[in-house]
Parts: sequence; structure tokens; C-alpha cells
Amino acid sequence: MDRELIKLEDIKMYFQSRVGLFKTIPIKAVDGVSVSIVKGEALGIVGESGCGKTTLARISLRLLKPTSGRIFFEGKDITDVDEKELKWFRRRAQAVFQDPYSSINPFMTVREILEEPLILHKVGDRTERLELISKALADVKLTPIEEFLGKYPHMLSGGQRQRVGIARALILKPDYIAADEPVSMIDASSRAEILYLLKELQEKYGIAFLYITHDIATAKHFSNRIAVMYLGKIVEIGGSRELVNDTLHPYSHALIEAVPEPDPSNRLRERRVLVGEPPSPANPPRGCRFHPRCPYRFEPCDKDEPELKEVKKGHSVACYLY
Ligand SMILES: Nc1ncnc2c1ncn2[C@@H]1O[C@H](COP(=O)(O)OP(=O)(O)OP(=O)(O)O)[C@@H](O)[C@H]1O
Ligand SMILES: [Mg+2]
Repeated sequence: MDRELIKLEDIKMYFQSRVGLFKTIPIKAVDGVSVSIVKGEALGIVGESGCGKTTLARISLRLLKPTSGRIFFEGKDITDVDEKELKWFRRRAQAVFQDPYSSINPFMTVREILEEPLILHKVGDRTERLELISKALADVKLTPIEEFLGKYPHMLSGGQRQRVGIARALILKPDYIAADEPVSMIDASSRAEILYLLKELQEKYGIAFLYITHDIATAKHFSNRIAVMYLGKIVEIGGSRELVNDTLHPYSHALIEAVPEPDPSNRLRERRVLVGEPPSPANPPRGCRFHPRCPYRFEPCDKDEPELKEVKKGHSVACYLY
């Protein structure tokens, strides 16, 4: 498809983890993921802690080189391209991180934080840059602008800091943003507002988004499609509404039922469906990696790994039930 902006092809990322003095074992953080994002689309990635979401996002930004597999941006293979040949990509692909405080320089003012990428990419003169900075601040609703330009990060609330992080990601007018749990460290009271803002800006500027979260409910609101990851693999992918309303994979069911709704009995349901802790990515079980925790497992599940296959238009699942 020619509208594909980012294409990840059979990505594997194995980290070496030291055990004892002389031995290392591979941690299969991402273990064979193929996924694309088209221009202007928001793809949500959900899954529990350690399933490989951040690793996949870092690979999509070429902040990490995968152990194997290919990364394409607008059809160009950028998997092994040198950093100095990657400047065009750096300008067009940006990140919003979980913790705005650790991802922005505490000794720079808001103005300097936003001007840095412009200087790095040689955009405009001083006056033009100030115009772009003002526009970015207005976009993230940090107004009146003059009040924020001279402030240091510690003078801002968590929500305001994340708005600065978003403004910085936007200022180069990127085509792609990977947002890794962008609101999980923000005060619960301002989370929704910041998510709405992200969504509004994503649509206004037609930016393709990779939106990473634990929470399938916000993913549904934010994304056009959702991919559910389990132990380094995508186990289900489909249109957001379709995936949530007509959920296929038992693990996706468990995630949906684990959404902390006001009704506390949901927590009990979560425990009933998910048996035990997730196995380690160093040692994924044979067969379907979810089978040891799956209430529906049957004969073939512990033998071969099920392939991700399309069972309805645009909706794929890796499960022997389908
Ligand atoms: N640099 C690294 N070296 C060794 N292991 C790593 C490294 N980075 C990640 N891992 C391991 O890879 C697995 C996937 O990590 P990753 O951070 O991608 O998960 P995640 O889905 O983002 O989790 P969380 O929801 O907690 O952020 C984990 O087991 C993690 O410990
Ligand atoms: Mg993470």
C-alpha cells in the first residue's frame, strides 16, 4: 500500500541479559512483529508491563536497531542507515515520552526547549523561530504565551510540562509521533484533557500516531486501530471499535475486563481470567505464548504457535479458537 508511512517487517529485538558471571540469555522483548501505520492514522498498542511496547516504539523511531527485521519510512528502508543520513527522518518522526520531566532539560526555559529542535534543523531566523514557538504554545494551550516563554520546567505543573513536551514534538511539523504512555505520570485530573488535546492536534495536522498505553479504554478513544501485544508479539489487531466490541483473543478479553471501572467486581473478573503472572520474555512458553494463562486452552495450544490471521475484514487474531 502506498499510503503506508511506517512499516515494520518481522521485527525482533533480543536483549542480552547477564545471568551469573559468564552466561547471558536473550530477552525476547519483541519477537516477530509486523505492523504498518498509514498517513494520519493513530495506532494504539496495548498490553501489560514488559510485553515490548516501548521497545517497539523505540525501534519505529530508529532509536534502537532491531536484532532482525526491517523498518521502512515512506517506503525507504531505514533499518541500517547511519545517523548522519537520518536527519530527514529525525525531523519527521518525533516522540512524546511518559515522563516529561526526564525528557526535557531542566536548565532550559520553555522558549529554549522549543527552539532547540528548530536550531538543530536550521529552521528560520530568530524572529521566525519565535513565531513558530508561539504557535506551538498556542496549539498546546499554554497561554498567554508570554507567561510561559521564560519559565523553567520546575515552575510548571506535570500537565503543563507534558504540554511543553507535546509542543516540542509538534514544532517541526512531523508526520509521525510515537507517544509512550503520555499521560500515565500526569495527575489523574488532567489526563483526559491532555489526551483530548493530543487527539485534536493529531487530527488537525494529520499526524500518524503510535499511542502506547496499558489502558484499552483510552486506546479505543484515541486510536483508529488497536494492536494487542503479549510477550513480544501482536496477538490481535483491528479497528478500535470493532476490537473492543467484538473482541476475539482471550488475552484481549482479559485486558478489557481489567479496565478499572468504578465497579470493583471487574478486578475479580480480571483475576479469574488471567491465571498467574506473565512468563518471562527470556523464556516464552512453547506453542501459544498465552496458553498457560488462558482459560480456553485446548489441545493444540501448547504445541505450535498460532499465526496472526485475518478472520474478519481488517481484524486479525493469533488464536486456535478462530
Ligand atoms: N535495554 C534492555 N536490556 C535488557 N532488557 C531490556 C532492555 N529494554 C527492555 N528490556 C526488557 O524487554 C522487555 C520489554 O520491555 P519494554 O520496556 O519494551 O516493555 P513495555 O511493554 O514498554 O513495559 P511497560 O508497560 O512496563 O513500560 C522487558 O522484559 C524488559 O525488561
Ligand atoms: Mg514501556
